[in-house]
Amino acid sequence: MIGIFDSGIGGLTTCRALKQALPGHDMVYFGDTARTPYGSKSREAVVRYSLENSRFLLDMGAEMIVVGCNTASSVAPEAIRQAFDVPVFEVVHPAVEEALAVTKKGQIGVIGTRGTIDSGVYETRIKELLPSATVHSNACPLLVPLVEEGWFHRPETRRIVKSYIHPLRERQIDTLILGCTHYPMLESIIREKAGRRVTIINSGVAVARQVKAYVESHAEWREKGGQGSGDRFYVSDYTPQFRSIAESILKQKVDLQRVQQ
Ligand code: DGL
Repeated sequence: MIGIFDSGIGGLTTCRALKQALPGHDMVYFGDTARTPYGSKSREAVVRYSLENSRFLLDMGAEMIVVGCNTASSVAPEAIRQAFDVPVFEVVHPAVEEALAVTKKGQIGVIGTRGTIDSGVYETRIKELLPSATVHSNACPLLVPLVEEGWFHRPETRRIVKSYIHPLRERQIDTLILGCTHYPMLESIIREKAGRRVTIINSGVAVARQVKAYVESHAEWREKGGQGSGDRFYVSDYTPQFRSIAESILKQKVDLQRVQQ
């Protein structure tokens, strides 16, 4: 069973991508809705929450951890790998690899939470692999609350997205990494504001490809496909609003179970 966690419900976009890539495999999801957002928390807090979330998923039967949150992926994967003896995937590396595979001019934009952008993790990884690249980053702290409120098509959302994307567009980026798993819910507006020449990289889709490659190259994982008992979704705080957004992300009925974390 594949375990995925996020600070809230944005990581369900990663879960959706994983379901599309590996339809026969069961997922157990934990959204830390009681402690969201992670993007404005300290590194220490995000590492601690990530370890607790991973422990919970393993207790629920997960045999692999996918960190479905860029903020946690920026600071916590090493701590998770040291603490638990299971495969651990995160969203930053695969997104960088995809961006580098498609960029033509090496002008790469990155948007994410303050935590992700301030960590500099995308810029560092991109420069390690392509020193000639120029990285233009912008923290977009208002986008997560807009997604968590379900304001996907409001005029206010369009204006805010425009003001975050405009400076990157001015720099003539050719590739834009959605460095936060909430942002795919705003992808059509982001795409429109970035312009047609910009290739959008969805970090959830990127990690799903990597997990799929891992599963297909490991016999013990291949065999797990189709054995399933169904997906399970847990949150640390429950509201009907979370459920309705979860259903609009996954396009199916979702039974969100609240657990004490
Ligand atoms: N989904 C988280 C991420 O990918 C952001 C939400 C938060 O700030 O907690 O970074």
